[in-house]
Amino acid sequence: MGNPGNEETTEKKIQKFLELKKQAMLGGGEKRIHAQHEKGKYTARERIQLLMDPGSFVELGGFVTHHKTEFGLDKKKYLGDGVVTGYGRVNGRLVYVYAQDFTVLGGSLGNSHAKKIVNIMNLALKTGAPLVGFNDSGGARIQEGVDALAGYGEIFFHNVLASGVIPQISVIVGPSAGGAVYSPALTDFIIMTKETSHMFVTGPSVVKTVTGEDISFEELGGSTTHTLKSGVAHFDGADEKESIELIKKILSYLPSNNLEDPPVITPTDDKSRTSEKLNRIIPDDSKLPYDMKEVIKEVVDHGEFLEIQEKWAKNIIIGFARLNGYPVGIVANQPPVLAGALDSEASIKGAKFVRLCDAFNIPIITFVDVPGFLPGVDQEWKGIIRNGAKLLYAYCEATVPKIAVVTRKAFGGAYIVMSSKHLRTDVNFAWPMAEIAVMGSEAAVNVIFRRDLEKAEDPIAKQKEIEAEYREKFYNPYSAASFGYIDEVILPSETRPKLIEALWPLLTKRENRFPKKHGNIPL
Ligand code: HXC
Repeated sequence: MGNPGNEETTEKKIQKFLELKKQAMLGGGEKRIHAQHEKGKYTARERIQLLMDPGSFVELGGFVTHHKTEFGLDKKKYLGDGVVTGYGRVNGRLVYVYAQDFTVLGGSLGNSHAKKIVNIMNLALKTGAPLVGFNDSGGARIQEGVDALAGYGEIFFHNVLASGVIPQISVIVGPSAGGAVYSPALTDFIIMTKETSHMFVTGPSVVKTVTGEDISFEELGGSTTHTLKSGVAHFDGADEKESIELIKKILSYLPSNNLEDPPVITPTDDKSRTSEKLNRIIPDDSKLPYDMKEVIKEVVDHGEFLEIQEKWAKNIIIGFARLNGYPVGIVANQPPVLAGALDSEASIKGAKFVRLCDAFNIPIITFVDVPGFLPGVDQEWKGIIRNGAKLLYAYCEATVPKIAVVTRKAFGGAYIVMSSKHLRTDVNFAWPMAEIAVMGSEAAVNVIFRRDLEKAEDPIAKQKEIEAEYREKFYNPYSAASFGYIDEVILPSETRPKLIEALWPLLTKRENRFPKKHGNIPL
């Protein structure tokens, strides 16, 4: 015979559990959820549902709370402690996620909240799966004092442990202020959302006090600022749904971890497809620009190119595409912007991307049309030496398959930096219009024939004559090809099939370097 008292207790226990679960699902409560929606923002759980394949999300740590009492915190205890954490599938692949819940104490980060994030970071690391973090928080939970800072410290440390091991994507869907910005900054990608997301080390009121500058939230740290001016953010979604779609797009090109190859899809674009348009894209006058994005789109599968940091340092183009179904990272100079010259910002942008591709086994395809490093006092004072060295270092360091196509100019140090043979690029192509030289004809003639020109009867005519001779000699790919620095001169129209033919044998490439703790990239 059973004990009726026990049955009742069991039922009550289940009831209590269901009530707690319901309570946990509501975060900071209906009123605050309503306020969140009023601001045009989703709740933490809604964001996760939009990201994950339907029904795949599994929550961990839903009953975690803080254990603090200072400044009335004992009366402000919420199940989950202001962050939803767990895992699920994104397009069938395992992904770990955390989403800060602004409805609970403004999504502020206390120590228990941080421990939940660190727990899934560790699981993501151990299982080799990407980590996505939704940031919507007032920062360190002020009432928890140094214990909140300790929580951030742990997150930063794990961001660094995970760097180069698993892809980390930060989505900013609300405030991200103070030292809190440094977790996203340590990850691979930052996606901001227009109007509703802000990132800054100190907010407008502190700025006003310290520097006297009057500035709005949006101007100081909105998505336009960080995609256009600072380069902090890689993408901006028009709304949260678009930001979440961007996460899925990024993940579609990345392996789950550094020991895997990137996800290959069954190719549906013709691998032998040629493009007559490319035979006409370079203007006869080599001083005139053309749009390198057109070249990229003609070459890659179905013209699909996910450009990264599209609005910042536009003189260099970076992004993901596929060649015959295989993910590749594209780096390209952009002639209409600063004539495609490399400046400090372009070098930094390119370097981080080359290192990302190298860390995650993504082959790098480089399209070169570069007249050199950007001259000028401003650039020198901004440290173009140090910054240009970053890109040089990154290309030297990268051991993934590297293929380059010189479409037109490749001058001086920038020729070397942009994936030249000398940095161990595996296959170097050049179009017949390639101009591979130490510098442009005008500058070159002024340096080496200055005295002759001074003595000449008609210096202008003489200059033109020598420049023509210089161009005849150096403005072609054949001198570089005769040294083996260019493997093959190809028709522009055949670039796609040539790249595909070059890529497949390289997919088994192995290249070892001297063992070391780590290099000392010029930062
Ligand atoms: C505790 C916080 C909080 C915080 C917000 N709240 N930020 N509680 N610690 N850091 C609480 C508020 O008291 C409020 O609770 C609720 O969250 C919602 O906040 P509101 O101010 O009503 O919302 P809103 O008007 O939308 O403004 C959002 C905000 C603002 C801009 C984020 O709250 C704000 O400025 N917060 C402080 C930001 C900040 O300075 N953080 C510290 C940064 S230093 P009630 O119960 O009243 O609704 C930092 C160091 C990290 O983070 C260092 C890492 C190394």
